[in-house]
Amino acid sequence: MNLDFKYQNPTTIYFGKKSLDNLKKELSNYGDNVLLAYGKGSIKKIGLYDEVIGILKEAGKNVVELTGIMANPTYDKVQEGAELVRANDIDIILAVGGGSVIDCAKGISVAAYCAGDPWMKYWLQFQPVDNKIVPVGSILTLAGTGSEMNGGSVITNNAMKLKMGRVFPAKVNPKFSILNPTYTFSLPKYQMVSGIFDMMSHLMEAYFSGEDDVTTDYLIEGTLRSIIHSAKIAVENPEDYEARSNLMWSATLAMNPIMGLSKPQDWQVHMIEHQLGAYTDCAHGMGLAAVSLPYYRMVLPYGVEKFARFATQVWDIDPTGKSKEELANAGIDALEAFCDACGIVTNLKDLGTTEDMLQLIADSTVILGAYKKLTKEEVLEILKTAYEA
Ligand code: NZQ
Ligand code: ZN
Repeated sequence: MNLDFKYQNPTTIYFGKKSLDNLKKELSNYGDNVLLAYGKGSIKKIGLYDEVIGILKEAGKNVVELTGIMANPTYDKVQEGAELVRANDIDIILAVGGGSVIDCAKGISVAAYCAGDPWMKYWLQFQPVDNKIVPVGSILTLAGTGSEMNGGSVITNNAMKLKMGRVFPAKVNPKFSILNPTYTFSLPKYQMVSGIFDMMSHLMEAYFSGEDDVTTDYLIEGTLRSIIHSAKIAVENPEDYEARSNLMWSATLAMNPIMGLSKPQDWQVHMIEHQLGAYTDCAHGMGLAAVSLPYYRMVLPYGVEKFARFATQVWDIDPTGKSKEELANAGIDALEAFCDACGIVTNLKDLGTTEDMLQLIADSTVILGAYKKLTKEEVLEILKTAYEA
């Protein structure tokens, strides 16, 4: 049975090799002051920075830059951007980069004119957004998070050692996002496959919950199949446009609220990864992969029907002669083999984790979960398994 829901998505998507042609027209809907937000230089290496600056100049915009947005963006960076917005009366934030840049832009959007303490109000207390927000537009260069068409903003507070995710209401979504798969060709393989696991994880977080027959689960199975197929091609040939374009659009769909609508969801893997990220600053998708394998093996007995369905519908595993449990485990084994084949890291030591962090990460992890609510001891057990993997 489908649960009741409300769905709204105001983001305009321009997809394809010529999608940047739409930037000038989109910008004409906003005032002259643009905050150009980007990361640590990849957009300059691929020539995108020059192209965007050229379009901004042609459109007669005043450009202020927020540079050096780091992977796992920090609250300090959000505050730096918010200050620039206020000081320059910014009309639109143009985020050019991966999920970190876009998440940071959304954070700045809500924080700039927040009367109280934005961290407390928005990322700790999840209060409604009631102050002026600054519109955000994005040009995506890394497929994974889905930040280009959702309200998500995951921010790390280094002082508090907390990485907190928040899905803001749709009015905080990017107003438009430009998705040109060729921009992702330059990604190092490590970042590409991290993004691939991230998009798969978003789908699995929604999938491994509930037993009802719902449309969403079929959408998830189809999208996972597309990702797995395209990932194998992209790992061999990163410049295969068809594969990279399928990955880009799958990622946008995967972390769009539409893939979790109408059903309960899990999100425990993301909760553990967020704290792992707060302590190690690891690539988000790699952290998810390391946590997912022991987590799914632990909760599998509580959702065995769904894990068995995952094996047959996503991985084409032949059920003949197998018990439900054997089939369910074979699905997770297939996921692990896929990670190995793509070069996705599944060992916490390789992600910069040290033994003394494990207890701290477990203690600070938020407990959600669907088939089973973990105890903190079980979170620790998962981390230890991933550490020894
Ligand atoms: O800083 P630059 O130089 O741009 O380099 C980046 C960065 O080092 C590089 N990169 C990006 N595009 C490139 C490129 N390098 C070469 N060529 C390109 N075309 O890749 C590195 C990682 O970038 P980042 O933006 O951090 O990666 P990703 O898109 O995976 O974003 C991760 C962040 O998003 C959050 C994560 O927690 C993490 O903080 N998430 C956001 C979500 C959302 N908004 O809904 C949901 C996710 O679950 C996730 O939590
Ligand atoms: Zn994620």
